[in-house]
Amino acid sequence: MELRLGVVQNRPKFLKSADNLKAAFELMDRHEADLWVLPEFFASGYNFKTKREAAKCAESADGPLVSLLKAYSSKNACAIVAGFPEKAGKRLYNSAVLVDGEKSRTYRKTHLFGGEKRFFSPGDTGFWTQDVRGVPVGVMICFDWFFPESARTLALKGAQVLAHPSNLVLPWGPEGMKIRSLENRVFSATANRVGAERGLRYIGQSQMVAPNGELCFRLGGDRPQAAVVEIEPWTAKDKKVHPANDLFADRRPRLYGR
Ligand code: ACM
Repeated sequence: MELRLGVVQNRPKFLKSADNLKAAFELMDRHEADLWVLPEFFASGYNFKTKREAAKCAESADGPLVSLLKAYSSKNACAIVAGFPEKAGKRLYNSAVLVDGEKSRTYRKTHLFGGEKRFFSPGDTGFWTQDVRGVPVGVMICFDWFFPESARTLALKGAQVLAHPSNLVLPWGPEGMKIRSLENRVFSATANRVGAERGLRYIGQSQMVAPNGELCFRLGGDRPQAAVVEIEPWTAKDKKVHPANDLFADRRPRLYGR
């Protein structure tokens, strides 16, 4: 079955979670999708200056933000992947939750970027896949893209769709994700934000890429927007790039060492 895959590109107002959640839902309300991908820290904003500031926005994985996402998911019969600062005991994680009705599962960012290392603990969940409408979906967050192991691990675990909540600030992410899709023959949906926060500018260009590395679409760099594409997820099962070359069967892990 086809999957209607959507991305939300928002412009959160820093630390105004309720407003930002409402604005994201308004963008989603204009479309129908089976799976939505929202940016990293889409409700809180990103550029925290202190751990205390980050902690004030952080919630547990069964906190009010996830409850509101579950309510939207149930009401609109869609699954949602969305980034949020997660509080777990004394630790903070840069997390993304996959919500599907009342069910949820959390991924904690493996490869922290820049100043995140001052406040957040490196993720300890590892990479997992979860079925959405029968389609195995994997989650990776923003800078995880720079480590080919992230997408490769998810693809080896069977992911047909990579949900990629982001707050991209470096210029290479959108083009880089075309390669991640191509080399793993999977769909990827990168949801980035736009705008600036305390001098940090986010590049937008949220996009979706097909298993052949081609763009389904790429949004602009300055406007909040949502877009949905109907994809044929099963095409990601075919890892052949030539009749003689199946990218997974041809791997030589014994020779890769460290
Ligand atoms: C990033 O990982 N937010 C660049």
